[in-house]
Amino acid sequence: MQKIDVCFSPELLPKYEITDKIVVVVDILRATSCMVTALACGVAQIIPVMEVEECKEWQRKGFLASAERDGKKIEGFDLDNSPFSYQNPDLIGKTIALTTTNGTLAIKKSKDAAQIIIGAFLNISAIVAYLKKENKDILVLCAGWKGKVNLEDTMFAGALVEALQADFDVATDDSLMAQILYNHAKTDMLAVIAKCSHIKRLQNLGIEKDIEFCFQIDKYNVVPMMNGDFLEIVA
Ligand code: MLT
Repeated sequence: MQKIDVCFSPELLPKYEITDKIVVVVDILRATSCMVTALACGVAQIIPVMEVEECKEWQRKGFLASAERDGKKIEGFDLDNSPFSYQNPDLIGKTIALTTTNGTLAIKKSKDAAQIIIGAFLNISAIVAYLKKENKDILVLCAGWKGKVNLEDTMFAGALVEALQADFDVATDDSLMAQILYNHAKTDMLAVIAKCSHIKRLQNLGIEKDIEFCFQIDKYNVVPMMNGDFLEIVA
């Protein structure tokens, strides 16, 4: 039986063998929620990059570019990291370079994986169906916050473990911990995360509406996957 593991932070990624695994990158608030929304709403490709300067290079080449640090849009870029900004018909068919505080770093650090797919509550059932069909070992990589563990990404990881436990071996304590956290929180996740650090950060920035949006279940039926340097819909 294939296995499912959870990595709570990119800092722990070196502890995991990923060359034969599907890595599901999650950054609920808000990078992967944003990416799923953008691609579901017609953006053709996203180019995740780690550094702001690299994102600026893509912009100089004529691409739209989005840059966020600490929840705020960086001056001089076209877009921020709110999922609402990507529901714009003007973006249909476009390719957008994107750098965020944690989410794009987690994607780039997963480069040696067999496959990298993008998970959020917004597309969780599509991810579950894809993983069952592929039937490969899975590592859920939580983007966390600047190397630290966070609540919302771990809850998502637990939701995936819960949904896949009949088909995959819940291999290690990290998967079990995430699953226990999710089962504790699942009846009212927004209430459970109300005090978490990134919620407070986003509230201080006056972007509470993004929080509720990112916790919607199955708003979109898409599976974004990295294809070289480009993130696009594979299913
Ligand atoms: C992240 O990369 O951690 C988040 O996307 C930051 C944010 O958008 O608030």
